[in-house]
Amino acid sequence: MPTASVLDTAGFASRVVLPTLAGGVIKRRPPVLKAAELTHADRGAIAEVRRLRARYLSQPVRLRVPGRSFAVVLSERDVGRILADTPSPFSPASREKIGALAQFQPHGVLITAPDDDRAERRAVNEHALDTDRSLHRLADTVHAVVREEIGGILDGSLDWDTLNVAWWRAVRRITFGDAARDDERLTDQLAALRRTANWANLLPRRRALRAEFTTNLREHVDAAGDDSLAGQLRGGADPAGQVPHWLFAFDAAGIAIARTLAVLATHRKQRSTATEEIGDLDEPSELPYLRACVLDTVRLWPTTPMILRESDAPTTWDGEELPAGTTFVIFTPYFHRDADRLPFADSFAPRIWIDGTADDLPALVPFSAGPARCPGADLVLFATSTALATVLATHDVELTAPVDLDPNRPLPATLDNFSLRFATPARAKH
Ligand code: HEM
Repeated sequence: MPTASVLDTAGFASRVVLPTLAGGVIKRRPPVLKAAELTHADRGAIAEVRRLRARYLSQPVRLRVPGRSFAVVLSERDVGRILADTPSPFSPASREKIGALAQFQPHGVLITAPDDDRAERRAVNEHALDTDRSLHRLADTVHAVVREEIGGILDGSLDWDTLNVAWWRAVRRITFGDAARDDERLTDQLAALRRTANWANLLPRRRALRAEFTTNLREHVDAAGDDSLAGQLRGGADPAGQVPHWLFAFDAAGIAIARTLAVLATHRKQRSTATEEIGDLDEPSELPYLRACVLDTVRLWPTTPMILRESDAPTTWDGEELPAGTTFVIFTPYFHRDADRLPFADSFAPRIWIDGTADDLPALVPFSAGPARCPGADLVLFATSTALATVLATHDVELTAPVDLDPNRPLPATLDNFSLRFATPARAKH
C-alpha cells in the first residue's frame, strides 16, 4: 500500500484539507470563500490530488498522520467501490463528521453507525423525502410555495441576500408549513450551531443554544400538517432528529440555485434550452433539463467537497490491507474536474446528465452514490429547478457581479455565491 512522503502529506494537508476546512465545511465563511475565489484555491487543491495520483498511481494512498489511518482515494473505480459498499465496511459516520455534525444533529442518519439505528433512520428519511420519485408526493405544495417566494423577489435585480431570505422562507414552509415562514430565529440558531460545528471537536458544545434550537424545532414539528415534510415523519427512533439535517442541506440548495442562475446567465445556448422546456408552470413539472443544469452546477462546484468514509473492518486493495478505522477521503472536485479524463471537465455540460454520459462515470457524485446517496436529491432537484423556472419563465437574467464565467474559457474552480448579483428585467410578452 503506497504511503505518501512527509512532504506529500504536508502538501495534501496545506493545499487540500486546510483550504477546505477554512472555507467552512458545515457553514460557509463568506470572506474566506471570496479570498479562495481570488487565489484560485480549489484549482490548487485539484492540482495537488492530481500530482498524488501521478506519483502513487491508482490505489488509495495513506497519509503520514501519527496515531490515525487516513487514505486519499485516487481512482474512479475505488470511489465507486467505497460508495457502493456503504455503510459497511465503509461507514459514513466517520469520527470527523460525528465531531462536527453532533453539534446540531446528534441523531442524524449520516452520523449514525450501521449497528446503531442507521437502517431505521434511513427509512424515515426515504419515506418523508419520497426518495427516487422525481415528483415528491407533496409536489403541489412545494411548487406553489417556491413559485410564490421566488416570484415575490423578481423586481429587476437580485443578489445573494435577497435570494437567500426568500429561499429560507420557502424552506421553512416546505419543511413545517406556512406558520413557520417567518421564524428566522430558527434558521439563525441553526446557523450559529453550524458555525461552531465548523470547528468539529475543537470548540466546546453549545448545549444551551442547542437546547433552544431543539425546543423551537420540535414545536414546529409538532404543529406540522400533512402537507409539510415534517408531517411525513413516520416510525424510527426520534424521527424529528432527522429534521436538522434537512434544514442544513437545504442551504446547499440555495447555493446551487444562485450558482446555476449565474451559469445560465452567461451560457446563452443552455439558457435558451432551459427556457424552452418551462411552459406555463401552472402545474408541478419534472423540468429534466433544468434539473440537469443544477446537477452540473453541483458537479462543477460540489457543496460536499469531501466525502468521508471510515472502515469498520480491515479492507483489501490489490492484495494489500488497510486497517479497520481508516478514514477514506474522496475529494470530489478532483474527480469532477479531471481534465485528463473528462472532455467537459471545466465546462458547463448539463447534457451529460441526460444522454447517459454521467451514468458511466462512478466518480461524478454531486449527490454521492450507493446506499447512502442523498435521499433528498429528487426533492431538491425538483424544488431548485422550479425556483429557476420561476425566474426564467418571465424574466431575463444577466450576471452583474464581476466574475468571469465565459463559456469559451475554463470555468473557475471556485465560485463565491455570496457575491453573485443579477439584473432580472421582465421579458416583454409576445
Ligand atoms: C443541493 C442540495 C444537496 C446536495 C448537493 C446534497 C448532497 C448530499 C451528499 C453528497 C450526501 C452524502 C454525504 C456524505 O456521504 O458525507 C448527502 C446526504 C444526505 N442528504 Fe443531501 N444534499 C442536498 C440537499 C439535501 C436536502 C434538501 C435534504 C433533505 C431535505 C437532504 C438529505 C440528506 C440526508 C438525510 C443525507 C444522509 C444520507 C445517509 O447517510 O444515508 N439533502 N447529500
